[in-house]
Amino acid sequence: MILNPTTGIDALAFAGPAGYVDMTELAQARGVDPAKYLLGLGQNSMAIAAPCEDTVTMAVAAGQQALQQFDIDPDDIGTLIVGTETGIDHSKPVAVYAHELLGLSQNCRTFETKHACYGAMAGLTASMDWIASGRARGRKAMVIASDIARYGLNTAGEPTQGAGAVAMVVAPEPRLLSIDPMHIGDYTRQVMDFWRPLYSKYAFADGHYSIQCYLDALSGAHNDALNGSSDALLDRLAASLYHVPFVKMAFKAHQRLLEIETGNSYSKEQADGWQQLQEHFGEKVAPWLKLNAEIGNIYTGSLFLSLIDLLRQAGTSLAGETISLFSYGSGCGATFCLGQIAAQAGDWSAQLDPATQLQQRRRLSIDEYEQLINASENADTEAQLNPADYGLDSGLFYTGTRDHIRHYEHF
Ligand SMILES: CC(C)(COP(=O)(O)OP(=O)(O)OC[C@H]1O[C@@H](n2cnc3c(N)ncnc32)[C@H](O)[C@@H]1OP(=O)(O)O)[C@@H](O)C(=O)NCCC(=O)NCCS
Repeated sequence: MILNPTTGIDALAFAGPAGYVDMTELAQARGVDPAKYLLGLGQNSMAIAAPCEDTVTMAVAAGQQALQQFDIDPDDIGTLIVGTETGIDHSKPVAVYAHELLGLSQNCRTFETKHACYGAMAGLTASMDWIASGRARGRKAMVIASDIARYGLNTAGEPTQGAGAVAMVVAPEPRLLSIDPMHIGDYTRQVMDFWRPLYSKYAFADGHYSIQCYLDALSGAHNDALNGSSDALLDRLAASLYHVPFVKMAFKAHQRLLEIETGNSYSKEQADGWQQLQEHFGEKVAPWLKLNAEIGNIYTGSLFLSLIDLLRQAGTSLAGETISLFSYGSGCGATFCLGQIAAQAGDWSAQLDPATQLQQRRRLSIDEYEQLINASENADTEAQLNPADYGLDSGLFYTGTRDHIRHYEHF
């Protein structure tokens, strides 16, 4: 099925904040039935960033891991793109901070992409184009998705927050996943489903409308990727990966694609069809949503977090298999594409697995969580922030803004 499996993802790594909130505890604090968050949304916990943890610190942690774990020389990186909705300056890109802190070459091109949750997929396909054009001259590209999803306390979006970064290195003959340039479909439409005005730290979302916009974009990008062909695709794929603002959204997405392909409509009232949908989802999508369920929404990185989950568990058994990937960014822009898992992808499962990192996270009480959210509101203008005040001891942290300049220090 793959026509040009030559370029794609050669290295991947996740890094997230040290703290998390348990969804049962949050539901109890909000007077909501925990089943709504656990089953209705599919979330078990969500990562919460402290004021010293920002888009830069997470991007650098993920970027360093990708370089080290996959033994890549920083001098081999010729393009660095950071996809983020959570920039830290109206003008200066997160990418240029990450460029310095990762020790990349001064001849590396560096920029930031913004389109809500879509920025990293834009960076990935732009990197593939850069390599295909010959301009890379043998160098690799690094794309980092880094975001803090924040809707605010006591809002409808509160249980769909999260934070984290995924770094990927894009190269010819990749060790993890090649992407077929002949099956990349795009979709764009101006809609007001989610946005964050310059004056607001919190996103505004028309939540139910955003689900509809996501599903419309999925139909449009899927159709474009298949060049209008009506061939049934899903049964020939080993896995379907989606943008995951919350786990249940991947179920709704898979339902939509199955409906397009089979011409059936699935509802709980029709038991046979509903059973068929559940089985399809259980086999091709659900196994790769475990990290998303523990980390929550990381916006630009959420699709690639699901890819890490798949590769850490099944890189060996699915070697050579074709999968689909769908990225959606509100506003809205989307891409649906096909990829092929590399023959040796299974060799990297231990390096890809963030299980130890997740085990070391600290469970925040609801009081602590609310204090962190409130403290983060003023973090950009605090002159001095001490990581120890937030239980953070080692790593790279944002330590305050002095003379209008953000400071980062290693501890
Ligand atoms: C996702 C979002 C719209 C949910 O909003 P909400 O109105 O509070 O929640 P809902 O009433 O729709 O309930 C969510 C789900 O839980 C289910 N649910 C509700 N109570 C439940 C309970 N006690 N037990 C089990 N499930 C329950 C609902 O049936 C629904 O599932 P369904 O969509 O399959 O029917 C909201 O969190 C939001 O705005 N998030 C930010 C935007 C976003 O993530 N958009 C995604 C596309 S980009």
